[in-house]
Amino acid sequence: MAAPTETLDDTQASPSDASTNATEALEASANGNTVTGQGGYGHNHSATREPVSDWISDFDHIDPHYAAHAPEIWDQLRQECPVAYSNRYGGTWLPVRHAEVCAIAKDTDTFSSQGVVVNDGRPEIPAPVGFAPPITSDPPFHRIAREFLLPAFAPKPIEAKRESTRQTCRELLDELLVDVEAGRSNIVDAALGYTQHIPVRVIADMLGVPRSDGEQFRVFIHQIMEDPATGIEVDYEDSIDHYLDKLIEQRAQEPRNDLISHMTQATIDGQPLEHEHVQGTCALLIIAGVDTTWSSIGASLWHMAQHPEHRQRWISDPEVRPFAVEEFLRFYAPVTMARLVAKDSEFAGQSMQANDWVLLPFPAANRDPEAFEDAGEFIIDRRRNRHVAFGLGIHRCLGSNLARLELTVALEEWMARVPDFELADPDSVTWSTGQIRGPRKLPLRIVGPLADSRV
Ligand code: HEM
Repeated sequence: MAAPTETLDDTQASPSDASTNATEALEASANGNTVTGQGGYGHNHSATREPVSDWISDFDHIDPHYAAHAPEIWDQLRQECPVAYSNRYGGTWLPVRHAEVCAIAKDTDTFSSQGVVVNDGRPEIPAPVGFAPPITSDPPFHRIAREFLLPAFAPKPIEAKRESTRQTCRELLDELLVDVEAGRSNIVDAALGYTQHIPVRVIADMLGVPRSDGEQFRVFIHQIMEDPATGIEVDYEDSIDHYLDKLIEQRAQEPRNDLISHMTQATIDGQPLEHEHVQGTCALLIIAGVDTTWSSIGASLWHMAQHPEHRQRWISDPEVRPFAVEEFLRFYAPVTMARLVAKDSEFAGQSMQANDWVLLPFPAANRDPEAFEDAGEFIIDRRRNRHVAFGLGIHRCLGSNLARLELTVALEEWMARVPDFELADPDSVTWSTGQIRGPRKLPLRIVGPLADSRV
């Protein structure tokens, strides 16, 4: 079954959410030109940027218009110039076809991961290690930084988290629906009350910290995401750096069965990992695992709110659910990463200079008609769906098993309890923009009765 093409209109993207996201800040921190009062996090985007004059020669991925109309902009660029260039951020390229996005992701000699989020600066912590291993690491160090994390994210240990994740979703729904069940209201905010909490609690369990600390992660992410124009000052005592410093020291002295203890015990060539390495990887897991999954669950519920036929299909046909999850990932892929050009190069007929940025819009690759039949349509039971929402090549998402599990369980539990809902007011939905994109406020009106049934 095919649904009409989805695009966002301007009213659904909030300019107030347009300038920041956590990963931007993570990267800017790596660039060393940030507000150290924020525990080393923060970023250096100018508060205001000139509006885009032309998407081929002057694009800006943090422009609110890009958030609202990205699929149309990609379509235009695919026709007119498959790799666009802008002078912004000291020189930035934007490939939009599946072929170029994939070629860049695979060519780690020419395109370095030393910088993965575009901003005005350039990283001070050089490749191959980078600020947040393994995502900011190049070969050969990348393999070392990734390998010792792999066992924790393999299918079997992740599958073991299914029931606790389900329990988390049920508890959140119980809290969220109190007023609805009491007949006091039929409107809930799914982003604030549901989607944002799920990955935070899951990653707290993995890192081996109390779930109540998980709430603190959201404060850190909020600090990181604060509008640069009003940039909040955060004392070291209140920062993520301080939080992680304390925790790493505790686990180094009294190891437990958790990921942080595992990292404090790991060795490279017989040497323990540098403190900065452990800290950077922990911060990466908190940020890479939270904003992304939160975005993905939220975008899926946003879609369901507007498509009763897809809600019906999900409920009546359990076999369609794995296909629907993949189509949500393809169609609403939340993550665009970046690379830095490592050396002057010719690519796709363009002359790229060392230290230029290259955006890697995996969401654009997922909408390329050369790679997908009816690429602009959401097809809930799409069979052939080799999307690149999780990237590809050596940096392919380490958390993809976990992300799929969280997205599936979050949707299963929501749909089992709240089968009928719609957008309460499309104008009050806000979306983050920049390199990780998803709904940050999602008021939904519950239309029909709540269901007692659980999956
Ligand atoms: C829907 C949710 C998610 C999406 C769409 C997503 C997407 C991605 C993408 C596109 C990359 C490749 C980055 C690059 O090429 O530079 C990546 C890398 C990564 N992701 Fe995810 N991610 C998600 C959830 C998670 C979760 C839940 C975790 C862990 C808790 C996680 C941990 C990582 C890590 C550690 C890397 C770096 C891997 C490396 O550099 O070798 N992600 N992710």
